[in-house]
Amino acid sequence: MLICVPNVLTKDDVADFRHIMDECAWEDGRSTAGAQSALVKNNEQLPPDSEVARKLGKRVISALTANPRFISAAIPLQIFPPLFNRYAAADGHHFGIHVDNAVRGDRLTGLRIRTDLSVTLFLAEPDEYDGGELVIEDNYGSHEIKLPAGDLVVYPASSLHMVTPVTRGMRVASFFWLQSMIRDAHARSLIFDLDTAIQALVERLGRDDPETVKLTGIYHNLIRKWAEV
Ligand code: NI
Repeated sequence: MLICVPNVLTKDDVADFRHIMDECAWEDGRSTAGAQSALVKNNEQLPPDSEVARKLGKRVISALTANPRFISAAIPLQIFPPLFNRYAAADGHHFGIHVDNAVRGDRLTGLRIRTDLSVTLFLAEPDEYDGGELVIEDNYGSHEIKLPAGDLVVYPASSLHMVTPVTRGMRVASFFWLQSMIRDAHARSLIFDLDTAIQALVERLGRDDPETVKLTGIYHNLIRKWAEV
């Protein structure tokens, strides 16, 4: 299941991130790639352990945890410190088809997570660059994602995905992984659909409608049944 979440960062935040990132030294993106993905990865990253990456990453996580749609979609247990990358047309940057590593460890904090979900938070507007689509393959086919700056997409880390070559301008993004409290993707998808329906009913009928209260109870009891915390 691919879920897009709009307006995670405001346009002002994005402009501030970009200003800060423009001043940084960037490194080869292969520093965090696994053996297979290193073969097909060609981009640049902010050094993952750098103070600036950590500071910007904390701002991303604050924005995520304040976003109800993101929380509902991901039900995060642990979020890996966000990384930041860029793809320049001038350097032919792209990232060929790969699957993300199943487990990620962070050197600085000692955090280790199972990567259930991958997230890309777009930090460049679609009209700033050509190409650079995030292409995700699932049972329903191949999906091309390019979102406005400040929006993100959440998708299964188990899926094959790639970033097509950037042919004009610069694609800038934050990307990271998370371990969900709900390991099973189908169960997580059911819970998200149920929550979305409940929120719509609450809008229409109010929070104290008896059936809405019952459905809310079912929502929490399913989480109670399936959550690993
Ligand atoms: Ni990837």
